[in-house]
Amino acid sequence: MKKHIGQVFTPLKWAEWLINKWNIFDAWLDGARICDPTAGQGAFPLAMLRIARQKGVPMTPERLSRLTLIEIVPAHLEQFRENVKREFGVDFPASQIFCQDVITQAHEGEYDILVGNPPWANFGDLPTAYKAYLKPFFLTEGLVPDRQKTLLGSSRTDIAALVLKVTLGRLIKKDGVGYFYLPTSLFFGDGAHSGFRNYRAKDSRNGVDACRDFAVDTVYEFTSTKVFEGVGTSYCCAKFRADKPQDFPISYFRELDGEWIAHKALPLKAPTDPWRIVQDFDDLNTNTMPDIRLAPEQKPRQGVNTCGANSVFIFNYKPSHLPEQFLYPLATKEIWQQQTSQTHKWILLPYHQQTGKPLTWNQIAEWDELKEYLQNVQAELQSRKGRLLRSAINRGNWWTLLGVGSYAFAPFKVIWQAYGKSDFTPIVLSNVNGQMWQGNQAMHAFIPCWTETDAQRIKTALENPEIPILLKQLNGAGKCNWAQPGKIKKILAFNGS
Ligand SMILES: C[S@@+](CC[C@H](N)C(=O)[O-])C[C@H]1O[C@@H](n2cnc3c(N)ncnc32)[C@H](O)[C@@H]1O
Repeated sequence: MKKHIGQVFTPLKWAEWLINKWNIFDAWLDGARICDPTAGQGAFPLAMLRIARQKGVPMTPERLSRLTLIEIVPAHLEQFRENVKREFGVDFPASQIFCQDVITQAHEGEYDILVGNPPWANFGDLPTAYKAYLKPFFLTEGLVPDRQKTLLGSSRTDIAALVLKVTLGRLIKKDGVGYFYLPTSLFFGDGAHSGFRNYRAKDSRNGVDACRDFAVDTVYEFTSTKVFEGVGTSYCCAKFRADKPQDFPISYFRELDGEWIAHKALPLKAPTDPWRIVQDFDDLNTNTMPDIRLAPEQKPRQGVNTCGANSVFIFNYKPSHLPEQFLYPLATKEIWQQQTSQTHKWILLPYHQQTGKPLTWNQIAEWDELKEYLQNVQAELQSRKGRLLRSAINRGNWWTLLGVGSYAFAPFKVIWQAYGKSDFTPIVLSNVNGQMWQGNQAMHAFIPCWTETDAQRIKTALENPEIPILLKQLNGAGKCNWAQPGKIKKILAFNGS
């Protein structure tokens, strides 16, 4: 069950690179105890042994006794021992190899240095049984605020965040250091990783529940070098210090044309906020941000989500076999590329425009074509996954979509492309023959407006050139979280939302 959790092994070359970057080898020779808490096939200890051989440093039993591996999959550890035997003719001491779950099982040892590459996988993507098993640990480490939240979402929290907190809290000696390859989402993720960014870990070493500070000291963000082939996630390597409160700015190096360019990282507003990356403090133009006043019902939103049933609800033409009043124009990239509001796609929303609620089955039955169409896809719609959707399906509304409410039928939308872009271009969309434009899932975000004047006012305010600058500093350019509603809401400090 746990065989494939976040397995992205570090190529030996890059394990050596990290060891050399931070002089970990010299620290070992000087007597440091070193551990990879999620060691895989032992890329980091192997790299240490290779460096020792290159430098002609003997692998004495004493030196080997200060290298430790912890790993959940036994076969990886066996492979490591075989590799060491074959390459160096040495029996790696069994006493330094622990086959255990570093999150849920106790470990006796404490180390001066932790090094490695914790598993990268979203909580939501873990096997169901393991998810239930880990849930209390996510909760105790403050990675999700309460039980309710874990049930409803926050599934984008990475297991790497949990492994870091657990190991920095329990496995590291006082004032120890940790060096890891990590997904950058730990530092830039919106809600999901704010629990990581309290920079505190549980410390249960003395049998009492205490807390321990940890601080991020330096980060190197890879932008073009492929350390991990075939990995879509953005990643970095970072140095952590135990028992030190976090202070800002943090030294942040970003790769540019083969060089490491020095930047500074600091949180957007609150200490747990995602980081902004600037080269210079003059770039922090916080005072020129627009102050936009909005009514509570104008919260920024994502577009409509079919929960995997696009082929049922979305059409590349206006289907003549379905009642017109339930078909809505769906925003597509052409609107921004060609600056026209020609309709390229349509979406079926079996909803009441006035209330934003799904039609009842009796109401659907008043429209023969609609009823027949939905009946033909009933099984497909009923088998869709996702907690929120499941609760609607369990109530009998299997034709439900997510992201539809009265806001979806507001007469105007200030809408922008929110995903994978590096330009921020809000436009106002209204309707086609009385049918309101809709956004498509995470691709688009919008603010609903009930008058055109209000929509134009908000659009003009959002055109402030500081906004895309700030979005770039938040490291979202070209990424999925470029201008998602939560981020826009936060950077603009909307009133009344
Ligand atoms: C990203 S890989 C990295 C392995 C190694 N550090 C490297 O850099 O090549 C993460 C490893 O963590 C292991 N792992 C996942 N969950 C674990 C847990 N709870 N306890 C210990 N190891 C775990 C996986 O089996 C995998 O081998």
